[in-house]
Amino acid sequence: MILVINGSPYRENSTTLRLTNTFLQGMGETAEVINTVDLHINPCLACYACWMKTAGHCIQQDDAIEVLEKIREADLVIWTVPLYAYAALANCKSLIDRTLCFNKPEIYVGEDGKTHHYGYEDGSKRTVLISSGGLPDIKGNFDGLVFQFKHMYGEQTVAICCAEAALFMYPETQPLTAGYLEAVRKAGAEYKEQGKISEETGQILDTPMIPRVAYIQNTNAAFAQVK
Ligand SMILES: Cc1cc2nc3c(=O)[nH]c(=O)nc-3n(C[C@H](O)[C@H](O)[C@H](O)COP(=O)(O)O)c2cc1C
Repeated sequence: MILVINGSPYRENSTTLRLTNTFLQGMGETAEVINTVDLHINPCLACYACWMKTAGHCIQQDDAIEVLEKIREADLVIWTVPLYAYAALANCKSLIDRTLCFNKPEIYVGEDGKTHHYGYEDGSKRTVLISSGGLPDIKGNFDGLVFQFKHMYGEQTVAICCAEAALFMYPETQPLTAGYLEAVRKAGAEYKEQGKISEETGQILDTPMIPRVAYIQNTNAAFAQVK
Protein backbone atom coordinates (compact mmCIF):
# COMPACT_ATOMS: atom_id res chain seq x y z
CA MET A 1 0.00 0.00 0.00
CA ILE A 2 1.23 3.50 -0.83
CA LEU A 3 0.43 6.25 1.63
CA VAL A 4 0.72 9.95 0.78
CA ILE A 5 1.01 12.32 3.72
CA ASN A 6 0.23 15.80 2.43
CA GLY A 7 1.01 18.65 4.79
CA SER A 8 -0.05 21.53 2.55
CA PRO A 9 -2.89 23.76 3.74
CA TYR A 10 -3.89 23.95 0.05
CA ARG A 11 -4.87 20.26 0.21
CA GLU A 12 -5.64 19.01 -3.34
CA ASN A 13 -4.65 22.39 -4.83
CA SER A 14 -1.17 22.08 -3.37
CA THR A 15 1.78 22.42 -5.74
CA THR A 16 3.67 19.81 -3.75
CA LEU A 17 0.78 17.35 -4.03
CA ARG A 18 0.70 18.01 -7.77
CA LEU A 19 4.31 16.84 -7.92
CA THR A 20 3.45 13.78 -5.84
CA ASN A 21 0.49 12.91 -8.07
CA THR A 22 2.75 13.21 -11.11
CA PHE A 23 5.34 10.94 -9.45
CA LEU A 24 2.56 8.39 -8.77
CA GLN A 25 1.44 8.64 -12.41
CA GLY A 26 4.98 7.78 -13.44
CA MET A 27 4.90 4.81 -11.07
CA GLY A 28 1.54 3.75 -12.50
CA GLU A 29 0.19 3.56 -8.96
CA THR A 30 -2.56 5.08 -6.85
CA ALA A 31 -2.31 5.93 -3.18
CA GLU A 32 -4.31 6.88 -0.14
CA VAL A 33 -3.84 10.61 0.55
CA ILE A 34 -4.03 12.03 4.05
CA ASN A 35 -4.24 15.81 4.42
CA THR A 36 -2.61 16.36 7.79
CA VAL A 37 -3.85 19.96 7.97
CA ASP A 38 -7.35 18.57 8.61
CA LEU A 39 -6.21 16.41 11.50
CA HIS A 40 -5.61 17.07 15.13
CA ILE A 41 -2.00 16.06 15.68
CA ASN A 42 -0.58 16.86 19.10
CA PRO A 43 3.12 17.50 19.59
CA CYS A 44 5.13 14.58 21.00
CA LEU A 45 4.95 14.58 24.81
CA ALA A 46 8.47 13.13 25.13
CA CYS A 47 7.05 10.63 27.63
CA TYR A 48 9.02 7.79 25.94
CA ALA A 49 6.18 5.37 26.69
CA CYS A 50 6.57 4.03 23.12
CA TRP A 51 10.16 3.05 24.01
CA MET A 52 9.69 1.93 27.60
CA LYS A 53 6.17 0.58 27.96
CA THR A 54 4.06 0.06 24.86
CA ALA A 55 6.44 -1.58 22.37
CA GLY A 56 6.36 1.02 19.64
CA HIS A 57 2.89 2.43 20.15
CA CYS A 58 2.15 6.03 21.07
CA ILE A 59 -0.08 6.47 24.10
CA GLN A 60 -1.67 9.76 23.04
CA GLN A 61 -5.24 9.63 21.79
CA ASP A 62 -5.52 11.90 18.78
CA ASP A 63 -5.71 11.69 14.98
CA ALA A 64 -2.01 10.84 14.69
CA ILE A 65 -2.68 7.33 16.02
CA GLU A 66 -4.56 6.28 12.88
CA VAL A 67 -1.93 7.89 10.64
CA LEU A 68 0.89 6.14 12.51
CA GLU A 69 -0.91 2.80 12.05
CA LYS A 70 -1.27 3.52 8.32
CA ILE A 71 2.46 4.34 8.14
CA ARG A 72 3.14 1.06 9.94
CA GLU A 73 1.12 -0.86 7.32
CA ALA A 74 2.36 1.03 4.24
CA ASP A 75 5.05 -0.35 1.93
CA LEU A 76 5.85 3.14 0.68
CA VAL A 77 5.19 6.48 2.36
CA ILE A 78 5.41 9.59 0.18
CA TRP A 79 5.79 12.59 2.46
CA THR A 80 4.49 15.63 0.60
CA VAL A 81 5.98 18.50 2.51
CA PRO A 82 5.94 22.18 1.48
CA LEU A 83 9.07 23.91 2.73
CA TYR A 84 8.39 26.39 5.52
CA ALA A 85 11.24 28.30 7.16
CA TYR A 86 13.81 25.96 5.51
CA ALA A 87 12.18 22.94 7.15
CA ALA A 88 9.05 20.78 7.27
CA LEU A 89 5.90 22.76 7.95
CA ALA A 90 4.57 22.41 11.47
CA ASN A 91 1.82 19.82 11.05
CA CYS A 92 4.20 17.42 9.32
CA LYS A 93 6.95 18.13 11.84
CA SER A 94 4.63 17.10 14.69
CA LEU A 95 3.90 13.86 12.85
CA ILE A 96 7.58 13.27 12.09
CA ASP A 97 8.33 13.68 15.83
CA ARG A 98 5.57 11.19 16.62
CA THR A 99 7.23 8.58 14.34
CA LEU A 100 9.77 8.25 17.14
CA CYS A 101 7.56 5.32 18.15
CA PHE A 102 8.97 3.36 15.15
CA ASN A 103 12.49 3.75 16.52
CA LYS A 104 14.19 1.82 19.26
CA PRO A 105 16.01 3.53 22.12
CA GLU A 106 19.39 1.87 21.48
CA ILE A 107 21.93 4.12 19.81
CA TYR A 108 24.35 2.88 17.16
CA VAL A 109 26.98 4.48 14.96
CA GLY A 110 26.06 4.05 11.29
CA GLU A 111 28.35 3.54 8.31
CA ASP A 112 28.06 7.29 7.80
CA GLY A 113 29.79 7.77 11.17
CA LYS A 114 26.68 9.41 12.60
CA THR A 115 24.65 8.21 15.57
CA HIS A 116 21.17 6.81 14.97
CA HIS A 117 18.35 5.01 16.73
CA TYR A 118 17.34 1.71 15.10
CA GLY A 119 14.16 2.07 13.09
CA TYR A 120 14.00 1.75 9.34
CA GLU A 121 17.17 -0.29 8.72
CA ASP A 122 15.53 -3.48 7.46
CA GLY A 123 14.38 -1.57 4.35
CA SER A 124 10.87 -3.04 4.47
CA LYS A 125 9.36 0.44 4.53
CA ARG A 126 10.36 2.80 1.79
CA THR A 127 10.16 6.58 2.06
CA VAL A 128 10.01 9.28 -0.60
CA LEU A 129 10.16 12.98 0.25
CA ILE A 130 8.60 15.43 -2.18
CA SER A 131 8.91 19.10 -1.33
CA SER A 132 8.53 22.46 -3.01
CA GLY A 133 9.67 25.93 -2.11
CA GLY A 134 9.21 29.45 -3.41
CA LEU A 135 12.88 30.42 -3.31
CA PRO A 136 15.11 29.64 -6.32
CA ASP A 137 17.73 27.63 -4.41
CA ILE A 138 17.94 23.96 -3.55
CA LYS A 139 21.26 24.18 -1.69
CA GLY A 140 20.95 26.30 1.42
CA ASN A 141 17.17 25.95 1.33
CA PHE A 142 16.12 22.28 1.41
CA ASP A 143 19.30 20.93 3.11
CA GLY A 144 17.82 20.63 6.59
CA LEU A 145 14.67 18.91 5.38
CA VAL A 146 16.54 16.34 3.28
CA PHE A 147 19.04 15.69 6.07
CA GLN A 148 16.18 15.15 8.50
CA PHE A 149 14.38 12.65 6.25
CA LYS A 150 17.49 10.66 5.39
CA HIS A 151 18.44 10.54 9.06
CA MET A 152 14.97 9.59 10.23
CA TYR A 153 13.97 7.16 7.48
CA GLY A 154 17.27 5.96 5.98
CA GLU A 155 19.89 7.10 3.48
CA GLN A 156 17.98 5.33 0.70
CA THR A 157 15.14 7.83 1.10
CA VAL A 158 14.55 9.45 -2.28
CA ALA A 159 14.02 13.23 -2.23
CA ILE A 160 12.60 15.54 -4.88
CA CYS A 161 12.96 19.22 -3.99
CA CYS A 162 11.37 21.65 -6.40
CA ALA A 163 12.68 25.20 -6.15
CA GLU A 164 11.00 28.15 -7.91
CA ALA A 165 7.62 26.58 -7.18
CA ALA A 166 5.81 29.90 -7.69
CA LEU A 167 6.13 29.18 -11.41
CA PHE A 168 3.37 26.59 -10.96
CA MET A 169 0.93 29.39 -10.08
CA TYR A 170 0.80 31.06 -13.50
CA PRO A 171 -0.62 29.73 -16.81
CA GLU A 172 2.09 31.63 -18.76
CA THR A 173 4.85 29.57 -17.18
CA GLN A 174 3.21 26.25 -18.07
CA PRO A 175 5.80 25.41 -20.76
CA LEU A 176 8.50 25.65 -18.05
CA THR A 177 6.62 23.66 -15.42
CA ALA A 178 5.54 21.05 -17.99
CA GLY A 179 9.21 20.10 -18.48
CA TYR A 180 9.72 19.77 -14.74
CA LEU A 181 6.57 17.66 -14.36
CA GLU A 182 7.77 15.41 -17.17
CA ALA A 183 11.00 14.81 -15.19
CA VAL A 184 8.97 14.05 -12.05
CA ARG A 185 6.89 11.52 -14.03
CA LYS A 186 10.10 9.93 -15.31
CA ALA A 187 11.43 9.86 -11.74
CA GLY A 188 8.29 7.96 -10.67
CA ALA A 189 8.78 5.40 -13.46
CA GLU A 190 12.45 4.94 -12.55
CA TYR A 191 11.64 4.63 -8.86
CA LYS A 192 9.08 1.92 -9.60
CA GLU A 193 11.59 0.06 -11.77
CA GLN A 194 14.83 0.50 -9.81
CA GLY A 195 13.90 1.92 -6.40
CA LYS A 196 15.89 5.06 -7.20
CA ILE A 197 16.05 8.02 -9.53
CA SER A 198 18.72 8.06 -12.26
CA GLU A 199 21.49 10.64 -12.08
CA GLU A 200 20.27 12.18 -15.34
CA THR A 201 16.70 12.69 -14.08
CA GLY A 202 17.98 13.85 -10.69
CA GLN A 203 20.02 16.51 -12.43
CA ILE A 204 16.97 17.86 -14.27
CA LEU A 205 14.99 17.93 -11.00
CA ASP A 206 17.82 19.80 -9.27
CA THR A 207 18.13 22.41 -12.01
CA PRO A 208 16.04 25.56 -11.59
CA MET A 209 13.34 25.91 -14.26
CA ILE A 210 14.57 29.43 -15.11
CA PRO A 211 17.87 31.10 -14.20
CA ARG A 212 18.00 32.28 -10.61
CA VAL A 213 18.48 35.95 -11.53
CA ALA A 214 15.44 35.94 -13.83
CA TYR A 215 13.30 34.25 -11.17
CA ILE A 216 14.32 36.80 -8.55
CA GLN A 217 13.65 39.71 -10.93
CA ASN A 218 10.23 38.38 -12.02
CA THR A 219 9.14 37.57 -8.47
CA ASN A 220 10.19 40.96 -7.14
CA ALA A 221 8.50 42.72 -10.06
CA ALA A 222 5.26 40.82 -9.36
CA PHE A 223 5.39 41.80 -5.66
CA ALA A 224 6.14 45.43 -6.55
CA GLN A 225 2.79 45.53 -8.36
CA VAL A 226 0.96 44.22 -5.28
CA LYS A 227 2.24 46.98 -3.01
C1 LIG B 1 5.26 30.32 6.39
C2 LIG B 1 5.93 30.01 5.09
C3 LIG B 1 7.29 29.79 5.07
C4 LIG B 1 7.94 29.50 3.85
N1 LIG B 1 9.30 29.27 3.88
C5 LIG B 1 9.92 28.95 2.72
C6 LIG B 1 11.33 28.65 2.72
O1 LIG B 1 12.00 28.64 3.74
N2 LIG B 1 11.91 28.37 1.53
C7 LIG B 1 11.21 28.35 0.34
O2 LIG B 1 11.81 28.09 -0.70
N3 LIG B 1 9.88 28.59 0.32
C8 LIG B 1 9.22 28.88 1.46
N4 LIG B 1 7.85 29.11 1.47
C9 LIG B 1 7.09 28.97 0.19
C10 LIG B 1 6.42 27.57 0.06
O3 LIG B 1 7.32 26.55 0.39
C11 LIG B 1 5.96 27.35 -1.38
O4 LIG B 1 5.00 28.32 -1.73
C12 LIG B 1 5.44 25.95 -1.63
O5 LIG B 1 5.51 25.69 -3.02
C13 LIG B 1 4.01 25.74 -1.16
O6 LIG B 1 3.60 24.44 -1.48
P1 LIG B 1 2.06 24.00 -1.49
O7 LIG B 1 1.37 24.70 -2.62
O8 LIG B 1 2.14 22.52 -1.69
O9 LIG B 1 1.48 24.36 -0.16
C14 LIG B 1 7.19 29.42 2.64
C15 LIG B 1 5.79 29.66 2.69
C16 LIG B 1 5.18 29.96 3.89
C17 LIG B 1 3.68 30.20 3.89
